[in-house]
Amino acid sequence: MDLLRHIPLTLRTPSGSDTPGGIRDQISAGPVEALDIYRWQAIHEPHTFITAQLVSRILGEARRAVSLGVDGIKERLLVEHLPDLSITAVDIDRPYMDGCAVSLAHPRLEWGAFDVTTGDYGQFTGADTALLLQMDYQFDDATLAGIFASLAGAGVPRVVVLSPSLRGPMPLLEVGAMVKRHLRQRRRPEASYIRTRPRFAAIARPYALYSVEWYSLPFHRIALADVRLGLASTTPLKH
Ligand SMILES: C[S@@+](CC[C@H](N)C(=O)[O-])C[C@H]1O[C@@H](n2cnc3c(N)ncnc32)[C@H](O)[C@@H]1O
Repeated sequence: MDLLRHIPLTLRTPSGSDTPGGIRDQISAGPVEALDIYRWQAIHEPHTFITAQLVSRILGEARRAVSLGVDGIKERLLVEHLPDLSITAVDIDRPYMDGCAVSLAHPRLEWGAFDVTTGDYGQFTGADTALLLQMDYQFDDATLAGIFASLAGAGVPRVVVLSPSLRGPMPLLEVGAMVKRHLRQRRRPEASYIRTRPRFAAIARPYALYSVEWYSLPFHRIALADVRLGLASTTPLKH
């Protein structure tokens, strides 16, 4: 099944927020009204609202989160929905972070430039949760393991991974849909890493993989994994 991770997969629709002229470019270029951002998102990428709600349900007692690789709208929805939650949102795309700080400003949101592969995770000590939302497919196994280890080293006890690339128990059944999506979306040629649940569990193995659940969205399935970085993999947990 490891062959699956070599199948390229692109995830956004052609009108997605990372398409030139999409909402992301508009936010980077200057102030955009939050209502206009929500309106654009509802029309072009409505699944954002569903995934934000799924993440909010799993966050539970989280108070201080760091979001590694930023959507902007999801982080803003999360703090609006969870009144005790603060989020430090970081991304390699500095103009987008500067734009989010203006157009998606909120008293419990901070925005900053950060490279998750090389940055100093010490600044996140004190966070109780890391969010890795629709990010994992960009990184090979060693890089993903390095991100987990850096978070654990900074004392962040938990990472929530939202992934469209984590395959369920019968991944072969999903190959057709993946190939079709790829053919339709060749405009974004970068490779994606698709993983089976055992492969993901192997990357998370030093820690306790508390849960993995799959949800069906209109255009694809998405997994929500909860990795407890503060606990060893031998700790009996949910499963
Ligand atoms: C598909 S988006 C996912 C963002 C968001 N978490 C979400 O749920 O939609 C991927 C993001 O990863 C960011 N990114 C890519 N490589 C990165 C890196 N090495 N460090 C930090 N951010 C990175 C991109 O700038 C982009 O914002």
